[in-house]
Amino acid sequence: MQIFSIFAFIIVTLIAYVKWSQTHWKRRRVPHLEPSFLFGNFENPIISKSKRSMPAHFLEFYRKLKEKGLKCGGVYTYFAPMFVIADPAYNKHILLKNFHEFHIRDFYCNKKDQPVSLNLVTSEGEDWRKLRIKFNPTFTTAKMKIMFDLMMEVAKSMGNYFRGHATRKIPINAKQCGEYYTTDIVATCSFGLDCNSFKNSTFSDLVKHLMHDSFRFTRISFCFAFPKLANFLGVPLFIPKPTQYICDLLDKTVKERVGSNIARKDFRQIIMDLKRQHEINDTEAHGHCVLFLLAGFETMGVALTFALFELAVNQEIQTRLRNEINKVLNKYGGESSYEAIYSIKYLDMFINEILRKYPPVAILNRTSVTDVRLPDADFVIEKGTKIVIPVIGFHHDPEYFPEPDKFDPERFSMENKQNVKPYAYIPFGDGPRSCIGERFAKQALKVGIFSIVKGYKLKLNPTVKLPLEFESSFGLVPATDILVDIQEANQVIR
Ligand code: HEM
Repeated sequence: MQIFSIFAFIIVTLIAYVKWSQTHWKRRRVPHLEPSFLFGNFENPIISKSKRSMPAHFLEFYRKLKEKGLKCGGVYTYFAPMFVIADPAYNKHILLKNFHEFHIRDFYCNKKDQPVSLNLVTSEGEDWRKLRIKFNPTFTTAKMKIMFDLMMEVAKSMGNYFRGHATRKIPINAKQCGEYYTTDIVATCSFGLDCNSFKNSTFSDLVKHLMHDSFRFTRISFCFAFPKLANFLGVPLFIPKPTQYICDLLDKTVKERVGSNIARKDFRQIIMDLKRQHEINDTEAHGHCVLFLLAGFETMGVALTFALFELAVNQEIQTRLRNEINKVLNKYGGESSYEAIYSIKYLDMFINEILRKYPPVAILNRTSVTDVRLPDADFVIEKGTKIVIPVIGFHHDPEYFPEPDKFDPERFSMENKQNVKPYAYIPFGDGPRSCIGERFAKQALKVGIFSIVKGYKLKLNPTVKLPLEFESSFGLVPATDILVDIQEANQVIR
């Protein structure tokens, strides 16, 4: 009887706590979306059949706030309050103008149980600033030019892979192709590792499993909503086994470099130098390396996957891109040089549109470091409030991008791109904490897409069911594996 009473007391207390937590915004008179018990504004994962991803939830929050005529407002992820932005002017305010008030991302990191999860994305304050200054020179124009040849080598391996499939009339799995290409690009350019995933996918599979397991959504959304509790419970950000394996492998490459006196001006060398100068220790070095592998894999992979998909379903766009490539190649004497690839305007427009329709990082996170009042708002955002900028909401808002579901690179032509509302297009974030790998990522995508379109004609395999649901960020998996039929460009697909 006594046990029953204690149990009942605990349950009642928990229910009261959840209910009270879900009045956070009401108590502060902040406009918000009404939560449901326990799951807040997330769908109930037990009864829901749709299994919506995190970005899909934030897209919905954005739309609901706008439907209510709000420029921002509170939501609940389970019973944790979050503040969602739905106006581009606030994006500028938070990311750039008043960066000093919002410089913390408050991304989950378990320093105690998994010190390797501390890196440039998760670090804060002065630690972050010092690191950012150190890593800024990783992707200078001079280094990007050096990396161009390395990227072309990876693109060549991808070309061989395509040729093999074209000859045997086997479709390409776009997602797999995106993963192989981006793993090899980051491994080669940042670490000097030659892993040729197109022949042997072991390394790419390991990188993929750094964060993927069957509980990915639940684990990540739990850590996202309750970082303190997740830290207390020792929930890892990265899956320990593949993480350890990759760290060991990276250590091996360092030993080889030291042994043979090789000094490359890549990211690994920056890390080695920082270690030698005692600015970071072994674990921190591992953390930065794992982050760079993941940052490239999770983002460029999804962009290339959807690039293949859109090329395959939009034959006119594919033909136009191939014509533009051939035109430029003629001008440059047939040589696929750095200058030639950078001068293909339509390639740039195409990539911008991919990153609009499928933003690989679909939400940006910031936390207020002091009590703040946004311009025109009649309420205060308290210190420590978690703020989400739903990139995907802005990119799919018909007010800024008419017919947002339509894939149309023309939105980014010279004439049209100046009409894009400032801060409504932010695939790489903005301000001092924007993506450090932006130039690298865009160059790698340019090289990859250029090489594919130059050499091959793509068509969607008839077995693929449309429409696809875009899941991305923290999942980065298209609902259906996209199969693409290919044929060498000088032949015709029947
Ligand atoms: C298409 C590819 C990519 C996209 C769309 C992308 C997007 C983003 C976004 C939206 C952010 C957050 C910005 C913010 O909070 O304002 C970010 C941060 C970051 N990205 Fe990328 N990224 C890509 C590729 C890469 C690559 C290839 C690397 C490294 C090789 C990289 C490294 C980073 C790092 C280290 C940060 C944290 C920066 C900081 O906090 O100072 N990203 N990225």
